[in-house]
Amino acid sequence: MTAALQLEDVTVSYPDGPDWRVILDSLDLSIAPGELVVLSGESGAGKSTLLTVAGLLRRPDSGEITVAGTSSNGLNDRRMTALRRSHISFVYQSANLLPSLTAVEQLQLVGHIRGERASTTRRRAMDLLDELGIAERASQLPAQLSGGERQRVGIARALMGDPSVLIADEPTASLDPERAASVADLLGTASHQHGIATLVVAHDSAARLHADRLLRLEGGRLQPDPVAATPAVTG
Ligand SMILES: Nc1ncnc2c1ncn2[C@@H]1O[C@H](COP(=O)(O)OP(=O)(O)OP(=O)(O)O)[C@@H](O)[C@H]1O
Ligand SMILES: [Mg+2]
Repeated sequence: MTAALQLEDVTVSYPDGPDWRVILDSLDLSIAPGELVVLSGESGAGKSTLLTVAGLLRRPDSGEITVAGTSSNGLNDRRMTALRRSHISFVYQSANLLPSLTAVEQLQLVGHIRGERASTTRRRAMDLLDELGIAERASQLPAQLSGGERQRVGIARALMGDPSVLIADEPTASLDPERAASVADLLGTASHQHGIATLVVAHDSAARLHADRLLRLEGGRLQPDPVAATPAVTG
């Protein structure tokens, strides 16, 4: 099957005093539609940098990123943004909800930006909230939701964009183990059911349990995660 997200020979360096420090070193990664990849690695290994590049939020120094069959190489900034907007959604550690919008309005805003009819958007938004088990919280503001509920709204909002690729940087890190497990479960189910290639940075065992593939970023390269068989990894 064609990959939904493909990184080939991707290199990123940051200035480090008078030198350059290589963070991603000729890195390759390919994620199929519906596949959930969980990424780990030490603090500073470059995980967030990898997500930023994979999410077309910054260009690598060299290499190629292909999203839903379109290479970002050769695209100007405007076209790269358009490619990102039409195919990639993000979920953050804290859900980053707009404080003055209710749960359902957070989703409706995405539909509105996509130019959907209001009735279509409302129905899709309610369906997604229902799918994530928070339909009865639809009229609540973020301040009236628990951390786990906010994270579910964040995932529902990401799905509202009908993405080919979902990128999540430590979406379970701020949650207690039980809520982290449920959010991880939802991410896995959502990727599989919606056929989304999902790349998640997570260290907790719950998120790792739902992974189709576990990778570790070390020395600028990806490798199969050797601690995959250890069930209780925290931190
Ligand atoms: N814009 C930047 N300019 C210079 N150095 C940077 C920049 N962004 C990140 N770095 C450095 O690159 C390295 C990788 O950062 P990154 O945030 O990708 O790591 P990470 O694996 O996500 O870490 P953590 O687990 O702590 O979130 C770090 O040493 C960081 O200080
Ligand atoms: Mg990070």
